[in-house]
Amino acid sequence: MLLLPAFRGARPSGLINGVLFAKRPLSGLCTSLVYGEYGDPEKVVKRKQEAIPKPEGKQVLVRMLAATVNPADINTIQGVYAIKPTLPSIPGNEGVGEVIEVGSEVGGDIKPGCRVIPRLNAWGTWRTHALAQYTDLIKIPSDVDLAMAATIAVNPGTAYRMLKDFVPLGTGDVVIQNGANSAVGQAVIQIAAALGLRTINVVRDRPEISELKQRLKDIGATVVVTEGELRKSEEVSALPKPSLALNCVSGRSGTEVLRQLASKGVMVTYGGMSRQPVTVPVGSLIFTDITLGGFWMTRWNKEHYDHPKRQQMLDDLFELVRCNKLKPPAHSFVPFDSYLEAIKNAMPKEGMLGKKQILVF
Ligand SMILES: NC(=O)c1ccc[n+]([C@@H]2O[C@H](COP(=O)([O-])OP(=O)(O)OC[C@H]3O[C@@H](n4cnc5c(N)ncnc54)[C@H](OP(=O)(O)O)[C@@H]3O)[C@@H](O)[C@H]2O)c1
Repeated sequence: MLLLPAFRGARPSGLINGVLFAKRPLSGLCTSLVYGEYGDPEKVVKRKQEAIPKPEGKQVLVRMLAATVNPADINTIQGVYAIKPTLPSIPGNEGVGEVIEVGSEVGGDIKPGCRVIPRLNAWGTWRTHALAQYTDLIKIPSDVDLAMAATIAVNPGTAYRMLKDFVPLGTGDVVIQNGANSAVGQAVIQIAAALGLRTINVVRDRPEISELKQRLKDIGATVVVTEGELRKSEEVSALPKPSLALNCVSGRSGTEVLRQLASKGVMVTYGGMSRQPVTVPVGSLIFTDITLGGFWMTRWNKEHYDHPKRQQMLDDLFELVRCNKLKPPAHSFVPFDSYLEAIKNAMPKEGMLGKKQILVF
């Protein structure tokens, strides 16, 4: 059990989803992480304290409970992501908070005590308290595991959309993906299994490969192979060719999963972890007639800001959580005070059994 020393606000001590929050005297201060220039996240991210703001009108005061450190957060701070926030900026796209106070004009279902996630990208979740317009928050169930609530929006959402929106898939159909041990990859495995789909999961080799393969099989992976095993794997060739490939890595790995596609198959690129371009063999385009597509959750959310499809997606994901078919990725809770440790552990490293870093406040 993790005992968290720093919780500024009116929270009494107690157990929340297995995390014990220690009581602290009210400081009346909000602590935020802020960066004033793009660069190495371990150097440019600083701590800032200010008075806890008071919500007015349509505003809501949210106390953050947990926030994820995702690759997009790291890349945004480095200044190499598609979105460049105006500086200074508070990092953090994803997280879950609890409403503690509302302004006089707040309506709908947002009330003190309810749990919320941001509707907006780059909302700045790496802070103890945030003031938001109530319309920019989505209420979520309060009984969901804290790690799941903190990580549900970005990665499971991406997995869900990529499995639903590109190729009509039916029971027994096969999907191939690389970066299968990523948080998105783990969500793909679980959602695909819940939909009755089979998955070929490609990961990089490492000393702990047997443990990693088992970990992914335990959450529903049909086949797990290393990049080097993919072409000659009998387990892979025993399956029908996949009609959908999900590309987290790009570069050579992207080309290898693309080569596995069935005729008229689709490869959806959603990540470039190798920092290499996607290279497509001419034959795949001419003879296999494959289609290349891309997906960006940020754009989808913007285009579906308050669209019923967005609520439907969250309802479906929380239903999978309730049925124990969707669990959070392997993760470590990191006390907010130790944010540098979370950032360091979130930087890409080869040959590790990575864990999603979740800041807890
Ligand atoms: N387009 C979208 O809407 C969207 C949404 C969510 C995430 N993403 C992107 O999806 C990717 C995964 O995100 P996540 O949060 O799931 O990541 P994560 O849990 O932190 O996992 C990172 C993954 O990247 C792999 N990786 C890291 N460096 C690599 C390299 N040089 N070559 C090959 N693989 C490498 C890791 O494999 P190892 O274990 O072998 O290091 C691991 O599988 C990121 O690029 C992220 O930006 C995109």
